[in-house]
Amino acid sequence: MSDPIHIVVLPGDGIGPEVTASALQAMEAASRRFNVNLAWEEHAFGGAALDEAGVAFPEETRAACLSADAILLGAIGGPAWDSTTPSKRPEAGLLALRQALDAYANLRPVRVPDVLAHLSVLPPDRVGGTDMLVVRELTGGIYFGEPRQYSEEEAFDTMRYSASEVDRIARIAFEQARSRSGRVTSVDKANVLASSRLWRERVSRLHAEAYPDVSLDHMYVDNAAMQIVREPRAFDVVLTANLFGDILSDLASTLAGSLGVLPSASLGGFSPLFEPVHGSAPDIAGRGEANPVAAILSGAMLLESVDQHGAANLIRQAVDNILTRGIMTLDLSSNGVSTSEFTTRVCEAIAQADVVPSTT
Ligand code: NAD
Ligand code: IPM
Ligand code: MN
Repeated sequence: MSDPIHIVVLPGDGIGPEVTASALQAMEAASRRFNVNLAWEEHAFGGAALDEAGVAFPEETRAACLSADAILLGAIGGPAWDSTTPSKRPEAGLLALRQALDAYANLRPVRVPDVLAHLSVLPPDRVGGTDMLVVRELTGGIYFGEPRQYSEEEAFDTMRYSASEVDRIARIAFEQARSRSGRVTSVDKANVLASSRLWRERVSRLHAEAYPDVSLDHMYVDNAAMQIVREPRAFDVVLTANLFGDILSDLASTLAGSLGVLPSASLGGFSPLFEPVHGSAPDIAGRGEANPVAAILSGAMLLESVDQHGAANLIRQAVDNILTRGIMTLDLSSNGVSTSEFTTRVCEAIAQADVVPSTT
């Protein structure tokens, strides 16, 4: 057995604990097939940590995250904490985690294989084969810009980007494009916003200097929202700022049938963080109905990040296999199965798949 891979798990709130449990089951099942040794420990985060320790991102959770090989997060937030002081809300804990990790690059793949296209809200012949990657800047922009202020009479936020912040996320997008179909669409609002004007200039400059082999287009965010729905296959890598990426990735999830199937990786200077694109889904929490696919596929991305490509592929194939057989949760099918039933089927597929076991 190989050296243990140290994973910090932050189940969080709402359906977070339900879907991280599923992801861990699938990761354990796949790791067993490849003799990979997963050592994971759970830590308090989000509303659960607020209730337990009075803060959303406790110091001991921060220390554990910074020394982990990788972090798996469920989701945070919910109505119970909506009236909490904004700086203490679960969401503020999530932003603090991303900042502590310097996790500036959020990769959100949106894939719709032909066999799953019938699950989409769009006609199958329009979405089948969609394979885009949203590269969302995650530690800057309007989420973090200062000054910001709230009063009952007036409130404002600041959308701010430095040249180096744009350069580093653009570099990630161009590198990703080189390993995919070689196309980047940079999405901004340069017809109105100063921060977008700088964004566009820096992306164009970096492209000319270092990535002339990649094709680059610029698109305004309002048009991009329309084009992503109209012709999703025209997109390869979508490079965009924090707020635009948040909105466009939820929009793109409709192509894949449900928000419950989109995974993500947040990368930067420290431990990589993996989390579903969706939130804590308070409307279905505790009912055993949540779609665990986003969390399971986030687990597969986590295994990739620690070079366990065999285990990661096995998980992805098992998920495709089970969905292709028409077994899915209620968000995708009116006669859907429970979270635990779906997870069991995925784990069975993982256990039964033909694999060449690793000798390491
Ligand atoms: P949400 O993503 O939690 O839910 C939106 C809709 O999608 C709901 O109808 C929900 O039932 C459905 N949905 C989401 N994930 C699903 C899944 N896995 N299976 C089946 N259905 C699923 O967004 P929201 O309702 O706007 O936000 C709820 C809370 O989650 C808020 O407190 C918000 O701040 C928080 N949030 C957290 C994260 C995160 O932790 N990364 C992300 C988004 C929202
Ligand atoms: C996401 C979420 C978060 C964000 C919130 C909960 C802070 O919507 O991960 O997409 O806006 O980044
Ligand atoms: Mn979001």
